[in-house]
Amino acid sequence: MNSRNEHLERWVSEVAELCQPAEIVWCDGSPAEYERLSQLMVDAGTYVRLNEDHKPNSFLCRSDPGDVARVEDQTFICSVNKSDAGPTNNWADPDAMRSQLGRLFAGSTQGRTMYVIPYSMGPIGSDIARIGVEISDSPYVVCNMHIMARVGSAVLDVLGDSPDFVRGLHSVGYPLPDGTPDVPWPCDAENKFICHFPESREIMSYGSGYGGNALLGKKCHALRIASVQARDEGWLAEHMLILKLTSPAGEVKYVAAAFPSACGKTNLAMMNPSIEGWKVETIGDDIAWMKYGPDGQLYAINPEAGFFGVAPGTNDCSNPNAMKSLSANSIFTNVAMTPDGDVWWEEMTDDSPDQLVDWHGNDWTPDSDVKAAHPNARFTAPASQCPVIADEWENAAGVPISAILFGGRRAKTIPLVMEAFDWEHGTFLGATMSSAKTAAAAGTVGEVRRDPMAMLPFCGYHMADYFDHWLQTGAREGADLPRVFYVNWFRKTDDGCFLWPGFGENSRVLKWIFERCDGTAAAVETPIGRMPAPGALDVAGLSLSEADLAELLRVDEAGWQEELPLIEAHFEKFGDRLPEALRAQLAALRERLQSTAVTVG
Ligand code: GTP
Ligand code: SPV
Ligand code: MN
Repeated sequence: MNSRNEHLERWVSEVAELCQPAEIVWCDGSPAEYERLSQLMVDAGTYVRLNEDHKPNSFLCRSDPGDVARVEDQTFICSVNKSDAGPTNNWADPDAMRSQLGRLFAGSTQGRTMYVIPYSMGPIGSDIARIGVEISDSPYVVCNMHIMARVGSAVLDVLGDSPDFVRGLHSVGYPLPDGTPDVPWPCDAENKFICHFPESREIMSYGSGYGGNALLGKKCHALRIASVQARDEGWLAEHMLILKLTSPAGEVKYVAAAFPSACGKTNLAMMNPSIEGWKVETIGDDIAWMKYGPDGQLYAINPEAGFFGVAPGTNDCSNPNAMKSLSANSIFTNVAMTPDGDVWWEEMTDDSPDQLVDWHGNDWTPDSDVKAAHPNARFTAPASQCPVIADEWENAAGVPISAILFGGRRAKTIPLVMEAFDWEHGTFLGATMSSAKTAAAAGTVGEVRRDPMAMLPFCGYHMADYFDHWLQTGAREGADLPRVFYVNWFRKTDDGCFLWPGFGENSRVLKWIFERCDGTAAAVETPIGRMPAPGALDVAGLSLSEADLAELLRVDEAGWQEELPLIEAHFEKFGDRLPEALRAQLAALRERLQSTAVTVG
């Protein structure tokens, strides 16, 4: 033992007694440790080392087919009071869950090494950073945590003898008693539990090795536990990218955007703008912690150190900066492999290679009727390798946010962009966001659901209280608030094609947003929000018909009439706990839609 922290050492001893590991390793976060564990996984058949000429120091990993995404049905908020988890979370009684997990974790690490992984979310030692310790029996978790967080001895030095760290216990749930042979991707696919104890700041995750279920610093700590701390301490922990936008005149604004899983955060955060003179640089691609600065502005930091990004759809056209970020020192999970030891996934190139090994490890040709990569295949890449990472991405003070964007995948109704009338209306737009489900979580892909602020799977407490926290945040005296916008890159024609080209062309929308913040772009007031005045959205050089543009910026009154009862049903789930201001926003929207109907009719 080498921690000098008696709280940590006591906890590690207790866990070891319960899980019965063959040995305990305290992770130091060094490159040597990374290399040693990577080689261990190559030897065990978990990893394939990729061709050094194509992807230096990089590895391919194929998961168990039953362990490819987050499992929202098996994710629990174990608050003392059921009402604190709210209607959108699964709740379990903390004592009952602890007993159940106690039985699962008993002996769960037999025959395996137990890794103690001290990590910092946020730059080590910065005021805003938070420390956690993950105990895991998965070397895959250790290696991914090396990339995604700041890991190792330096974290323990900062922690000192403080008891103030988030305790995260993780087991893949595949013990190896009496010399039982291991498998390449151990898990307990039928018995996954991703549990959070918000009051005691604890996480217990059993049965899965997949990203969001197993890399506990990410969704479990930096969103579910941190959202509770943020509520208690007056800040915001959000599922948001952070980008730096520079105008041709050299003026800088920072933008944060909440889109649900696999809905475009990574792509927007590191896009190459299609319009002349504009520049986008990345601060973060998934999580933002925002606190008020002394000047009354909200300042955001990215608590992560890497990208755990969706591979399919990523290519040199759609996201060249992601392609460069993952060109070395990366881990690829559930992608396909080329005969010469490189990776491939759907849409990476215009034509697929003639021969591949698919994510199941089977031979694959373009005639195969299955996808070569899993739709939720992921790359794990160091943020520092992103060619457009902003110089200030690790600034402890964060960056001041001028605009917050909400958005999701909606084929109809929601326009390309609109601006909220004010913070309260913006909170209403975020609270009523909806999106088609993606492969990032187990379940039915394509089903439209309400995903408030893209936090449906990640809010660690009652969603109505979370709405209230947003309202309170905006009501703070002296606040110099960001403007709020609602965007939708995913409008479709009746025959199912995207109406808007997206990706780098989204810079046109960012430009309008930037100029709205500056007070230079024109907008028209509509019943649903402020929208670009005719000619205010820069579409120069874009091959988009007048009709398509009009459709993208149309207030679809019939569509919004259908939306009203859905929003009402969504709000009803929260009963009396729903803030009155949001109910009033819905009534006001209904009113505005009605009065236009009268004028038009
Ligand atoms: P998480 O990591 O799951 O939180 O997702 P994310 O929000 O970072 O999503 P990401 O940027 O990885 O995008 C997911 C998928 O959406 C990819 O397949 C992209 O190619 C696709 N996508 C991203 N931006 C756009 C866009 O502007 N238009 C269209 N049509 N597709 C997009
Ligand atoms: C998401 O699903 O929103 C992700 C990937 O960012 S995971 O870390 O697996 O949750
Ligand atoms: Mn995410």
